[in-house]
Amino acid sequence: MGLTIGLLLALSFVVSLFALAFLIWAVSSRQMSFDQAQARTIFVAGEEGRPDDPGTAPETDEKVPHHYDPARAGIDSVSARPVTALLASAVSWLVLGSLFGLTASLKLHWPDWLDSAAWLTFGRVRTLHLTLVIYGWSSLGLIAIVMWVAPRMFHTKLRHPNLPIIGAVLWNVALVVGTVAIANGWTDGEEWLEIPWQVDILLAVAGSFFVLPLLRTAAARNVRHIYVTGWYWMAAICWFPVLFVVANVPYVFMGAEQATVNWWFAHNVLGLWLTPLAVGAGYYFIPKIIGKPIYSYSLSLLGFWALALFYSQVGIHHLIGGPVPTWVVTLSIVHSVMMFVPVIAVAINQHVTVAQNSWALKTSVPLRFISLGAVCYTLASFQGSVGAIRSINTVVHFTQYTVGHAHLGAYAFVSFTLFGAIYHMMPRVTGRAWPWPRTITLHFWLVVAGFGIYFFSLTIGGVFQGLAMLDATRPFEDSVTLLKPYLEGRSVGGALMTAGHLLFSAHFTAMLLRRSPEVPHPAPMATTPAVAA
Ligand code: HEM
Repeated sequence: MGLTIGLLLALSFVVSLFALAFLIWAVSSRQMSFDQAQARTIFVAGEEGRPDDPGTAPETDEKVPHHYDPARAGIDSVSARPVTALLASAVSWLVLGSLFGLTASLKLHWPDWLDSAAWLTFGRVRTLHLTLVIYGWSSLGLIAIVMWVAPRMFHTKLRHPNLPIIGAVLWNVALVVGTVAIANGWTDGEEWLEIPWQVDILLAVAGSFFVLPLLRTAAARNVRHIYVTGWYWMAAICWFPVLFVVANVPYVFMGAEQATVNWWFAHNVLGLWLTPLAVGAGYYFIPKIIGKPIYSYSLSLLGFWALALFYSQVGIHHLIGGPVPTWVVTLSIVHSVMMFVPVIAVAINQHVTVAQNSWALKTSVPLRFISLGAVCYTLASFQGSVGAIRSINTVVHFTQYTVGHAHLGAYAFVSFTLFGAIYHMMPRVTGRAWPWPRTITLHFWLVVAGFGIYFFSLTIGGVFQGLAMLDATRPFEDSVTLLKPYLEGRSVGGALMTAGHLLFSAHFTAMLLRRSPEVPHPAPMATTPAVAA
């Protein structure tokens, strides 16, 4: 057994011991309670039954009286600065990352466009796009949600509120340096790990500044039970550093082993980082906006533990047909299919809660964003589990179908959840209403229509591409030329998505520049959890 595999196994063993200790603690301290009453942990006394959407619907709406909860003003005021710093950074990276994505897309059917400078070639622009939307927009945006929701959920103020600000500054410095490095052709050359490992050290240090505030706030909570969102988030904030550091260790993993570690990492960025953060956000915002607890609380905990058990080996399905041991690939396919369990648990909970309260979709655009994000999570996960099966994979592997699938998960699920959460949060963070509420609906339709065009173009084009590549009677060139209209379709969809992002960022900036009236902001006071401490 090679040193690296031995090292990985030893590390997995240590991590598993920690996980086992957590499970024992969860059972012994009755955190695994299957009592539906624990689903009410997120409410304060008197809050249940009252829809909660400060951002978009007029306060005068007779049918659904929206309400600002004064009880949380004190808690929100402590989180406001770190959350603003994190969100402002995330939104800036969204704009830049989308522009790089659109450029990369256009270059695939206008290959002569912008071909005079090395940093504008497809390979670099695509890499910049991926790096900025994942590490800039999605990661920082989701961390902002954690820093805002965790104190509310734990009914106590955020501990160490300056640490996330320092973390955000260092993270941004690492991303700026990483961007310049990639643009100049200095990369580690591994997908999702293109930022040079020397710069990744700074990113890892920056990330450590987010861990303590979450864990200390959880430890100081004023409710006994840790709501399911807390489980997802605390796990993610412990999983990601392990993944990131192991995958970045230089000069250890070589050849096929390097590819294995690369895909183990790359897929786990989705499954053990972005997914638990965004699913956890859905579990908070959906019942909170509707004003009713989640459909089945026991199912939600089952979903969390099933994700923890099954996800970590999923990534190797990217190497089906590659020069890695068959058992490693087969294990990954089995895990991929087993992911139906946690995904169905989340789907039943989140979709049934929304379906039983569909009236709320009419008044709350944030809820529309978040519940559509949840639907896209279900679809992306089902698509991923089915796509991992060898017979299907043979057709869609190495085609644009995979890029469509990646955007269903990384874009539609994560970004729609983020948009909805940000629209919900910002009036509380700034104490102001959104300046141009109608543009929120416009943003929604731009990105939904844009994404629909993007996804269906690549999914259909990808299947034709795969079938053409498998047909030994056709020249390879056929699989390239037939794609052109589908790639053009993707650019149209991507342009609409980018337009939506520009509109969103202008609106967000206007909000920060205080272009809207203040909402009545009651004096801070202590909160009383709906469930006894
Ligand atoms: C926040 C928004 C977005 C996220 C999270 C995101 C995520 C991703 C991911 C994960 C990939 C890698 C896919 C793979 O290799 O399988 C990717 C590639 C790509 N994305 Fe995006 N994306 C976003 C927005 C956009 C937009 C607005 C466009 C505009 C057209 C776009 C165009 C592209 C292109 C052209 C590629 C490269 C595909 C290839 O290698 O053939 N993306 N993106």
